[in-house]
Amino acid sequence: MAILTARRRQFLLAYDCRILGFKAKRFIHFLKLKMVKNYPTVSEEYLKAVEKCKKKLRGLIAEKNCAPIMLRLAWHSAGTFDVCSRTGGPFGTMRFPAELAHGANNGLDIALRLLQPIREQFPILSYADFYQLAGVVAVEVTGGPEVLFHPGRPDKAEPPVEGRLPDATKGSDHLRDVFIKQMGLSDQDIVALSGGHTLGRCHKERSGFEGPWTTNPLIFDNSYFKELLSGDKEGLLQLPSDKALLSDPAFRPLVEKYAADEDAFFADYAVAHLKLSELGFADA
Ligand code: HEM
Repeated sequence: MAILTARRRQFLLAYDCRILGFKAKRFIHFLKLKMVKNYPTVSEEYLKAVEKCKKKLRGLIAEKNCAPIMLRLAWHSAGTFDVCSRTGGPFGTMRFPAELAHGANNGLDIALRLLQPIREQFPILSYADFYQLAGVVAVEVTGGPEVLFHPGRPDKAEPPVEGRLPDATKGSDHLRDVFIKQMGLSDQDIVALSGGHTLGRCHKERSGFEGPWTTNPLIFDNSYFKELLSGDKEGLLQLPSDKALLSDPAFRPLVEKYAADEDAFFADYAVAHLKLSELGFADA
């Protein structure tokens, strides 16, 4: 295979994705990733287990309608990453009762209980890969974009400290502190990932909030952004942290773009979810 010259790499990186279709955009992103990530090699047996496990997860999610809590589990597992200390992140530590007991994780014991019978069938997989695979499958089976999955995350032995996940009562400064300063993500990632609230609902007994964001909480689409722009509606909910996306001058144009163009949302979401699921993993 031809070796990419530095100039050619630069050309690929600088290529204007806007003129490309969704698939081509994802391919370019994949190439960029190959340049900055150093994924571990896993065995054939491991790869087979990933594929089989994916199928079992699809079945479980279809049977139990539990895509929302699976996505929340994957996000809360990864969102603790701290780019400075390189602690936390998608490394399977939600298996520890100490992390599950963090206030932000209320209710995630339900996700782990649902996953247990599948977990037992695939002892070869790390918990880290298993939880992130559940998140990727949850998005895919509810009609969302395909998110690339690279196996080989190791399980860490220590859970992160409590208090790294975002507080729903706060605004855009706080969102940037958590997503940009702590996790190392971007403004665009914040808005795209917030679209994860197209799935599921708040439960009074878990978070103190109650209600879904959209009228179809088991379908992954761009209705979260449409509802956000259309204002408060009876029966639906918007958290203060969701509303912050409307009042911030950098966030709002992205909300408008995703409400008008579902393909643009899916393309940016797939990239942001992939970044989230690989925080601190396979860094070159
Ligand atoms: C931007 C900062 C965020 C805040 C403050 C936040 C806050 C919350 C809160 C308070 C709940 C309700 C939990 C409950 O009562 O069951 C929730 C649920 C949920 N969150 Fe977020 N979240 C954020 C970002 C995200 C991201 C990045 C994703 C995924 C990409 C996500 C996915 C979900 C899902 C799917 C649910 C529904 C869970 C269910 O129905 O059981 N959230 N979030």
